[in-house]
Amino acid sequence: MCGIVGYIGKKQAAPLLKEGLKKLEYRGYDSAGIAVLGDRGLAVEKRAGRVDALSANVYGNCGIGHTRWATHGAPTAENAHPHVCGAIALVHNGIVENAHELRRECMERGEKFFSETDSEVIAHLIARAYRGDLLAAVKEGCARLVGSYALAVLAKDRREIVCARMKSPLIVGRGEDGCYAASDLAALPACSAACVLSDGDFALLNGENFTVFDAGLQPKEGEKVVFSAKEEDGALGGYRHYMRKEMAEIPLALENSCLEIGNIGDFSGFYEVLCHAEYIQIVACGTAYHAALCFEYAAEKLCRIPVEVTTAGEYRYRDPIVPKNTLCLAVSQSGETADTLAAALCAREKGAKVAAVVNVAHSSLARMADFVLPTRAGAERAVAATKSFHAQLAALYSVLRALAAARGTAAPYFSLAKEAEEALALSEKVQGWAARFAAARSVYFIGRGADYCAALEGSLKLKEISYLPSEGYAAGELKHGTLALVDGRTPVVAIVTSEALAEKTMNAVSEVRARGAGVYLITTLASLSGREGIADAVLLPPCEELYSPALTAIPLQMLAYYTALACGNDPDKPRNLAKSVTVE
Ligand code: F6R
Repeated sequence: MCGIVGYIGKKQAAPLLKEGLKKLEYRGYDSAGIAVLGDRGLAVEKRAGRVDALSANVYGNCGIGHTRWATHGAPTAENAHPHVCGAIALVHNGIVENAHELRRECMERGEKFFSETDSEVIAHLIARAYRGDLLAAVKEGCARLVGSYALAVLAKDRREIVCARMKSPLIVGRGEDGCYAASDLAALPACSAACVLSDGDFALLNGENFTVFDAGLQPKEGEKVVFSAKEEDGALGGYRHYMRKEMAEIPLALENSCLEIGNIGDFSGFYEVLCHAEYIQIVACGTAYHAALCFEYAAEKLCRIPVEVTTAGEYRYRDPIVPKNTLCLAVSQSGETADTLAAALCAREKGAKVAAVVNVAHSSLARMADFVLPTRAGAERAVAATKSFHAQLAALYSVLRALAAARGTAAPYFSLAKEAEEALALSEKVQGWAARFAAARSVYFIGRGADYCAALEGSLKLKEISYLPSEGYAAGELKHGTLALVDGRTPVVAIVTSEALAEKTMNAVSEVRARGAGVYLITTLASLSGREGIADAVLLPPCEELYSPALTAIPLQMLAYYTALACGNDPDKPRNLAKSVTVE
């Protein structure tokens, strides 16, 4: 994780670096720092806390910056980047897996360390190799590293920035007033030219231009990035938090992410593979994993094709069996999640075709995949995924419909934008539940079938931003042990959208009520809304059962949001987390 930026040009670097870092705070926000090269040499400012804590009172028009998500060492000013050693200052995103042995080697040479980070060792290696040629020194230093890195490096006596990439994203660009480097396009101003570095690439930036080099330091044509004129400006648009604003954008995300998958058009190559698929494996993490579970449930039920969903971090370590004609769907908002990337690569090595269901067009996952199924949620800034979950559902349900068509089965029509709009309005009532949830000892979310998938997502959202212990449970499973934890201080949220399963879930509701739990119902079934003994209910518009998570997730997200506020938390930037999880 972590976000890095660099600027060299005609303007003062510090304000530009700070501005870029603020746009990268989704990658981590526990400490920040900048190093700027000016007439008086190199000036460094590092602070614990968010980017806003930086005064940026350092002058010069060449600099690098970093916003951190701590992996090695606490979030202190000492552990914040940039790290300086001799003539070298650098910022790093990634993990150096052999840092321990490299550090020991440096210490045996009498070199001193000032932080607990793995990154500082890179500054030592480059400083040792530096003899006036920064590019050559960075190459020599990187040759010793095992792990992942995106680097931006300065030398005190040279007006240039050298970048390097291995398994962590990095983009370089040329704008009107100079050259830029950043972990993500979002942190670059509009550039006349920009390139995504590939693994093993280096780049050299001066005030006028940038050059990309391959692993042997031969200049190469970098992979160009096109700036979209529609890039969002990041304004809150009258909302207090990005999370709530992004929920308001759910109807649009649903509408924009429905894909026309068939034997003509953009996805015809994917459709061909889909038609021959005998087995589908899905790899994803967190919320994207829950979207995948919703697809698994619907696809097995409707299309009678075996679907296997694995959390990406587990996939490759269990040495998975990948039968012939396996299609692997890798689902990720960021397209940079290290576990998902590694799992997708593993599936491909074992013979699967990989389709990335991804929200960021130029991401590493999109670039490695055989096919890209874009989710069009727009930029998501709040750490908790909301509209991207819906966009993933819309894209996956498009796959479901194409699969059904290929297998001669009729799939129900999917378009829930209008219903989602209604659900947003109806869900505001959960604000009235928040104080009771904020005071709870723990919270359970229960459901069956598709409602169980939604329950898992509701629970993840709640714990992520309210920090309350919570679990999503299959309604029938509670009585096999976990019911022992339920008492009067345990609110239970029951999600019920299937006529056929409703009474089964309501049995579980009776069981928790009998133990004193207050039960809150989220349902699309009008017949349940007046049910006796329910503390309160959100009655959503009717919806095809297979697709119901696209609606039930809305009050669940809203509940997490208002509970986080009732707990006094910032829902956009929960503690200990980052939006893009680029470490294993
Ligand atoms: C939860 C959340 C995370 C992400 C997970 C995967 O609200 O945002 O659980 O869903 O880290 O991230 P992507 O989708 O970027 O691969």
